Amino acid sequence: MGRADKVVLAYSGGVDTTVCIPYLMREWGVKEVITLAADLGQGDELEPIRQKALAAGVAESLVADLTGEFIRDYAFPAIQANALYENRYPLSTALARPLIAKALVEAADRYGADAVAHGCTGKGNDQVRFDVAIAALNPGLKVLAPAREWGMSREQTIAYGEGHGLSFPVKKSSPYSIDRNLLGRSVEAGPLEDPMNEPLEEVFLMTQAIEATPDQPEYIDLGFTRGVPTHLNGVALEPVALVSQLNDVVGRHGVGRIDMVENRLVGIKSREIYEAPALLVLIDAHRDLESLTLTADVTHYKRGIEETYSHLVYNGLWYSPLKLALDAFIQQTQERVTGTVRVKLFKGNARVVGRQSDLALYTEALATYSSDDQFDHRAAEGFIYVWGLPTRVWSEKLRQG
Ligand code: ARG
Repeated sequence: MGRADKVVLAYSGGVDTTVCIPYLMREWGVKEVITLAADLGQGDELEPIRQKALAAGVAESLVADLTGEFIRDYAFPAIQANALYENRYPLSTALARPLIAKALVEAADRYGADAVAHGCTGKGNDQVRFDVAIAALNPGLKVLAPAREWGMSREQTIAYGEGHGLSFPVKKSSPYSIDRNLLGRSVEAGPLEDPMNEPLEEVFLMTQAIEATPDQPEYIDLGFTRGVPTHLNGVALEPVALVSQLNDVVGRHGVGRIDMVENRLVGIKSREIYEAPALLVLIDAHRDLESLTLTADVTHYKRGIEETYSHLVYNGLWYSPLKLALDAFIQQTQERVTGTVRVKLFKGNARVVGRQSDLALYTEALATYSSDDQFDHRAAEGFIYVWGLPTRVWSEKLRQG
């Protein structure tokens, strides 16, 4: 008896997921494998990947164009949440996993599969994100993760594939482990495993080295409508166009690189290099627009929500009751986050230099130090008396011993 009859496998075209195909059939008795390659704007040609799966013996080779949904329903809500894991990582890889899981579950349903599969190893966060998201969407579905169990080294994996009629054209094999989509790239392993090693320029693809950036600054205007990015330099753009154009402009100025040691859910610290040019600038600009349009108490309270939200997404709980509840809170706060933020790009820096909103709570007549000032200065005295009263009482009591 096999582990499953019909399996939908998340397929990238890489060595691991390709070897999963014969492995599932020969070792785990799966009768039929259907692959699903997700287009998340990673820039790969999907047709050769589709063909590769067919050549490896799958019954169906599916390609799902998920880029629009990815940006609209996964990235933009995360921007509204100003989501940064450990204050730095904008979750560019993490956000893709629940969407791929959803596509797998839908395909399993459509094709009557009793299991889905992925090529994640047992050391990362992605396995957690897939498994938990799949369980949330269809708790009756089995999840198979061959690479978590097969215990083969890279060489053994390739040898196993070759032993089953697969060929892996000798591309100059990269020492890095890379994940990529329209939001960004994550790069691990190889020389990066020593956290003291500066990343070589070869790991970057979306961002220029500072040495190669333009010698003139460039200003961009980012427009938001209810917290959603909608305009670039005054032009209304669809989500995918906005993010890809912004990636180009921002990356050209060397903005969007992150080098960090992060805490994985599975307890391991790992050294990660990220590139996420558009996403990072959008979060920065969005947070700035909130400073203009949200009240102080909402802004401060939302910081805690953002922290919890980032942890949930990182830790694979995209489809969870707490996440849904936080979404409701965040959506409510975005009602009036509409306006424009001006960002200056220059030599690896993206600095917000201006912001404007018709819904701004910022009031010049109250803030001004000029004679137009409308703030009632005398009211401050009574306010401070009441505000400081508990501290005054405490101090007096302390002095009495
Ligand atoms: N550490 C990052 C995260 O957990 C990136 C993971 C990269 N995934 C990969 N399959 N290379 O989101």
